[in-house]
Amino acid sequence: MHPLEQLRDDALREIEAARDEKSLEGVRVKYLGKSGSISEWGERMKTLGKEERPVVGKLLNQARNAVTTALDRRGEKVREQKESQAVATIDVSLPGASGPSGYSGYSGYTGYSSLSGYSGYAALERGSLHPLTQMLERSIEIFRRMGFALAEGPDIEDEWHCFDALNTPSDHPARNEQDTFYLTDGRLLRTHTSTVQIRTMESASPPIRVIAPGAAYRRDELDATHSPHFHQIEGLYVDENVSVADLKGALEFFMLELFGPETAVQFRPHYFPFTEPSLEVYVRSKALKGGEQWIEVAGCGMVHPAVFEAVNKARGDNAYDPEKWSGYAFGLGMDRLAMILFEIPDIRLFSQNDLRFLKQFA
Ligand code: PHE
Repeated sequence: MHPLEQLRDDALREIEAARDEKSLEGVRVKYLGKSGSISEWGERMKTLGKEERPVVGKLLNQARNAVTTALDRRGEKVREQKESQAVATIDVSLPGASGPSGYSGYSGYTGYSSLSGYSGYAALERGSLHPLTQMLERSIEIFRRMGFALAEGPDIEDEWHCFDALNTPSDHPARNEQDTFYLTDGRLLRTHTSTVQIRTMESASPPIRVIAPGAAYRRDELDATHSPHFHQIEGLYVDENVSVADLKGALEFFMLELFGPETAVQFRPHYFPFTEPSLEVYVRSKALKGGEQWIEVAGCGMVHPAVFEAVNKARGDNAYDPEKWSGYAFGLGMDRLAMILFEIPDIRLFSQNDLRFLKQFA
């Protein structure tokens, strides 16, 4: 056996016997380090004759590779064992720790330690879904049954997706700095989820049937019914021969599913730059508190041909030929819908993180 093979076998044996990363590193240095006993053969090669050199070179490579691979493999194993040992001492069935000692927030009604009778440990309370999330899930479920797929887009947008592509001219009041949160680089927080109409059509060809739930931002004063940060579900349906009747049918079905069969739905003429005709949707339901009142819950309309043209221009094709395709779009105010459905009097409650409020929806 060549001495290099002997060295290799010695190294492999020591690697197998190593119990931690430190001893593995020792083995590495001993054999493969700068003056390690395998490495030394690299120097010795220079002194060898022409015939012997390639033979020893080959053995040297084999020894190096075998030892390196073994070191890696053993290293992984040693680390794995270390991790599982660390976890093995944790009893996952123990009750969770309560908040930091001296923490008095919400003690009025959560009362961790007073409930459990001993301090230090108490069962962690179960969480529950925020009413807006519940509202969103219910809504998505209804639209899914109508064949809508989910789409999404970024909260931080450029002016083109938020306004220009949606046929909103640069002198339109919505583009005012008083109404929109602009970033210093000219981008903005989207003022509506209609941006996702554009993003969806840029990347997918018709027919399209999507909803896009998400947040939107406007410079509104915060009061009981207005918030600078609110939520919408955008809807977009593009196909051949889509009509206002399709739009009314879909939204009526949605409102009745959500608020019950006693709900009346009304469409009133309105104006949006990106739809023609445009409508506002009002609901009234005896099943709801304040049942005699009409409440505005959505804006909608038939997609304006100028929107299709803007998308075509961005795509560089004529995929959304306005002569061939038509569509409807809508934007539902989720906060408003949730306030009606759950009889929530003040929009600020959604973002105040008051557990007394949130627990009512658990
Ligand atoms: N984006 C409009 C808004 O936020 C609503 C809307 C969506 C209207 C789609 C028409 C079509 O007020």
